[in-house]
Amino acid sequence: MESMRLGNLPSTVFAALLMGSPLSAASLPPPAHLTAQQDHRRMLNLLHIESLRQGADPHHPNAPNAVNYDESKVKPYTLPNALVLNDGQKVATSAMWWNKRRPQLVWMFNQSMYGWVPAHTPKVNWQITGIVHNKIGSYPVISKKLIGHVDDSSYPAIVVNIPLTLVTPANASGPVPVILEFHFVFPKGFKWPKGFHPPAPPPGPTPEEQILAKGWGYAELNPASYQADNGAGLTEGIIGLCNRGQPRRLDQWGTLRAWAWGASRALDYFETDKSVDAKRVAIEGLSRYGKAALVTMAFDQRFSIGLIGSSGEGGAKLSRRNFGELVANLAGAGEYHWMDGNFLKYAGPLTPNQLPVDANELIALCAPRPVFVSCGSPKVEGGWVDDRGQFEAEAAAGQVYRLLGKKGLGPQQMPPMGTALLSGDLAFRQHHGGHTVGPNWPYFLKWAKRYWGGAQRP
Ligand code: GCU
Repeated sequence: MESMRLGNLPSTVFAALLMGSPLSAASLPPPAHLTAQQDHRRMLNLLHIESLRQGADPHHPNAPNAVNYDESKVKPYTLPNALVLNDGQKVATSAMWWNKRRPQLVWMFNQSMYGWVPAHTPKVNWQITGIVHNKIGSYPVISKKLIGHVDDSSYPAIVVNIPLTLVTPANASGPVPVILEFHFVFPKGFKWPKGFHPPAPPPGPTPEEQILAKGWGYAELNPASYQADNGAGLTEGIIGLCNRGQPRRLDQWGTLRAWAWGASRALDYFETDKSVDAKRVAIEGLSRYGKAALVTMAFDQRFSIGLIGSSGEGGAKLSRRNFGELVANLAGAGEYHWMDGNFLKYAGPLTPNQLPVDANELIALCAPRPVFVSCGSPKVEGGWVDDRGQFEAEAAAGQVYRLLGKKGLGPQQMPPMGTALLSGDLAFRQHHGGHTVGPNWPYFLKWAKRYWGGAQRP
């Protein structure tokens, strides 16, 4: 949206543009440099908000804002109904869903939570930088290394590249389904915080080997490579490039949507690659990338299946449930960049109950496409991601699936730990481990096979 970009330019440049002065892209001012704190404050100033509520504190159990992990202290809440139009009319037909309700929900998620993606984002030119025939475990594969070069001619000061790896079975006789994984890449010298141990992978074949065993392929995308995971990076990466280095307006996209944008560009590439069946591409992610995976599924209807790992607040967890992480945590300077600026209001003066939407509706935006919500055991993973809040959101999304002729979760009560709910088009399982999708992969793949069949289309 041109006006969106112009709105962020310094007034002198804006005036020059209005007067038709031929300012070349290269003469635009350099990217603004704000710390996350400064940019967060800037957003609050734009909202005329002095301060926000504190988030839940997971470290001090006696603090007044100590995180709540007690079911009896969850305050009652009313979920927004995905099948009621904003004017109160019931959504009774699939046509009403597609033509009226879904667009309303998309608008509200854009405006109040995740932000609007600019109407025109720069073109991405995919280049294959290497093709290797190798083996993953015992599976012969073709590994392609790619870089998506983002057109920076509107603002050459910001260069954005999207590295992508695509691995498909070497013996495939045609295009295969692919699982696109948002992939954590830790910077050189990265050390886990003292006392924190990432969960060890479960014994047996890796997820990638399990995928290949089905005759499918996988791809890995590092979202932080095209949009940094912090507020200081908002004037760089793809968001910064679209804003020509200037800070965001209140309703412009946050990092989750930018990460999802990258996944969509990877899918654009798959549509051109004969080894991939682009109609059968899933998106997977864990934690913040679980949120990004759900946002990807919700907004880009070309993705066929979603595996949403421990996504918590801002993902599949109901924001209205005061359990585990809260809206006010997401709105803090360490996480606000995932969202748009308008979202900060709901951490004061407004409350999460005033959010026009909630996670049940985010999952509903994926309908009728299958979504698997995965979490670990609260005993090992902790309650921060609020498994029950994720289950309830998914259960509530079922009504939209049913309206569209599909099946929801089935049981509306949370099943015992380790039970896989796989009979519907919404699936759920809490595994016995920690903050990982690991032990749920076999369940997910078995369920996905129902939709995808083997390597060839059923
Ligand atoms: C923090 C954050 C979560 C996030 C998680 C992660 O715990 O509060 O919202 O999902 O980090 O991505 O690891």
